[in-house]
Parts: sequence; C-alpha cells; structure tokens
Amino acid sequence: MDNNHMGERAKIGILGAGTWGVALARMLTNSGHEVTVWSALPEEIEQLAATRRQKNLPGAVIPEATRFTADIARACDGADILLFAVPSVFVRATARAAAPYIPEGQIIVDVAKGMEPDTLMTMTQVIADELEKQGAPRARLVALSGPTHAEEVALDLPTTIVSACPDMDVARRVQDVFMNTCMRVYTNEDILGVELCGAVKNIIALAAGISTGLGYGDNAKAALITRGIVEITRLGVAMGCREQTFSGLAGLGDLIVTATSRHSRNNRCGMLIGQGVPTDQAVAQIGMVVEGLHALAATKQLAARYGVEMPITQAVDAIVNGGSDPREVVLGLMSREKTSETV
Ligand SMILES: NC(=O)c1ccc[n+]([C@@H]2O[C@H](COP(=O)([O-])OP(=O)(O)OC[C@H]3O[C@@H](n4cnc5c(N)ncnc54)[C@H](O)[C@@H]3O)[C@@H](O)[C@H]2O)c1
Repeated sequence: MDNNHMGERAKIGILGAGTWGVALARMLTNSGHEVTVWSALPEEIEQLAATRRQKNLPGAVIPEATRFTADIARACDGADILLFAVPSVFVRATARAAAPYIPEGQIIVDVAKGMEPDTLMTMTQVIADELEKQGAPRARLVALSGPTHAEEVALDLPTTIVSACPDMDVARRVQDVFMNTCMRVYTNEDILGVELCGAVKNIIALAAGISTGLGYGDNAKAALITRGIVEITRLGVAMGCREQTFSGLAGLGDLIVTATSRHSRNNRCGMLIGQGVPTDQAVAQIGMVVEGLHALAATKQLAARYGVEMPITQAVDAIVNGGSDPREVVLGLMSREKTSETV
C-alpha cells in the first residue's frame, strides 16, 4: 500500500519494536522508505518478522519490506534517520548501545515521551548526554510529538505531528520524510517546549482518568484539560519555552487526545486508580508503559526549581505516591484559594 508520500525517500533505523515503533515502521515502509527495526528483545524480533503483526495493533499488517534485526549495528548502518521509539526508561540504555554506530551529524528523531527522574532531562537531552559520555560524535536531535495514537496511525487514519528542532533545516528534513497523505507534519523550533508537553500531559491524562474513575463527568474533564494546559504552559514559559507551543498540536492537541481517548493508557490507568485499584495493579492491568507515572517525579522537581504552581500534578502525586484518598484530593483542588483565570 502507498500512502502517497510527499518528500524524499530515506533509509530509516527504528530502535524499539513496541506499539509506536511498529506503527511508524509500517507507515514509513508504506511511504516507500527503507526501514529496519531493532529491538533489545530477540524473541520479539523473531515473532514480528514471522507473524507480521504487533499485539497492540489489531487489524494492521506489517509489510514484508519492513526488515527486523536483533543487531543494533545493522539498524544504524547507513541510516539517514535513526528513530528512538523505546519507552522513556530505556532511552539512555538504547543510546549507550547505539553510540558506537553513530556517525557525525546523524539525525536522531525521538518519539519517546518523558523525563529522566534523576537528571530532569528530556529524552533528546538524555540521548545527547549519553552519546557524549560514550565519546560518540555529535548527533542532530529532533523531537517528533503530537496527538498520535499508534492504533490509529496503524490504520492510516488522518494524524498530525510536530517535528521540533532548533535547526529548522533538520526539522524540515524530518517533516519531508514523515509527511504523507495520512500524516501531516508541522515544524517547530521549540524542542524543549514540545518535549515538556509530551512528558507532562501524561500526568494530566492520569488526572482525567482518575476523575472518570471516581464517577465525575465531562465538566470535570474539561476543567482538568484546560487548567492542565495552563500549568504545563506556566512551567514551560518559566523554563524559557515559547508560549505558543503549548496551545499547539504537541501541547493542547496531545493533551486532548490523551485525556479523552479510549486508546490512552495513561487515561485508562487513571480510571482504574480512581475506581480504587492500587497503582501497581492498575499498571499491571494496562500491560504497557504508563509514562505519566514516570514523569511525576521529574515534573514535581522542575516545578519546585522554577517556583511554579502545578496543583493538578501535585494532586496526582498525592494520590499515586502519597496514598491520599482521591475524593479528598479533589475536594482540596476545589477548595483552593479563589483566583482569576487571567493571572
Ligand atoms: N503508543 C503510542 O500511541 C505512542 C504515540 C506517541 C508516542 N509514544 C511514546 O513512544 C514510547 C514507546 O511507546 P510504545 O507505545 O511503543 O510502548 P510499548 O510499551 O508498546 O513498548 C514496549 C517496547 O519497548 C521495548 N523494550 C522492552 N524492554 C526493553 C529493554 N530492556 N531495552 C530496550 N527496549 C526495550 C520493546 O521493543 C517493547 O516492545 C513511549 O515513550 C510513548 O509515550 C507512544
């Protein structure tokens, strides 16, 4: 199948064969790109190569032309673009494993959303840091983020995404490669803003899920989305990001999809927590990475460092890590000191 790719053909190595890595591999192969997917789990590679199916992408067939390998050197070899598609907790180890095979100026695109708890780094910062530690040459890093559920991309449903890089030539190169009639790509210079949005919106999605799990309605969800983007913007602006980024696709767009969609594991995990399921059991039931839980510690620390108020983030933390009763926490949010929307 051809999804009418609109730019240059490229050789792409994808590191990570989970839900998002495989959905993108399928789309990029169907666009005519040469795609090789690597996973740290050899049995996963064998299974994907043999069945041409990914367990979380029902209805999607992986094209025969998509190559799979358990050898990271093969995925990196001659790649115009190297795509990091592992969950955020594995990004540093993956950068370490790839480091020996990275040439000067390699374009690396990260799609993992999160922040490293100890360093408070975003994912492209983690990759750059680890490559430097390993003595690898300097790469050119791009964050690719937006309202993009893999389940829908795998069915060629219309989707938009943001290619973020301070070097606009690189952002546009990635835009060219990923753009097709099913995927519309916008560029943005504000890579930190785009990455912050991607990490912190998962916490707000957990809050929206908790609210639904408690039996609260659409009014509460709309409030969480709207006030959620306000607190993410507040943090981003304090960190020097562009305010406009937060009302864009990677900000408000991704928050809406994550907080409302049945595909969102953060939203579903929150719902279980709201229904009284302990967090570890909720995560086990979801069976995939719940990035919002990993992003909590870093976001809380950044809020403290920049002196920014993030009441929804604090509320989720109190429930998930502090063992607070969700109804008491909501009461606390509703009883906060009176304020204006325009401050
Ligand atoms: N799924 C989506 O719709 C979607 C969309 C946009 C962004 N993302 C982001 O992409 C990232 C990956 O998400 P996903 O949905 O593919 O998650 P997933 O849970 O489906 O990914 C699991 C994959 O991680 C890899 N993995 C497991 N153990 C590993 C290890 N020890 N070392 C290295 N890799 C290992 C394996 O390939 C495994 O299949 C996340 O940060 C997520 O927020 C996901």
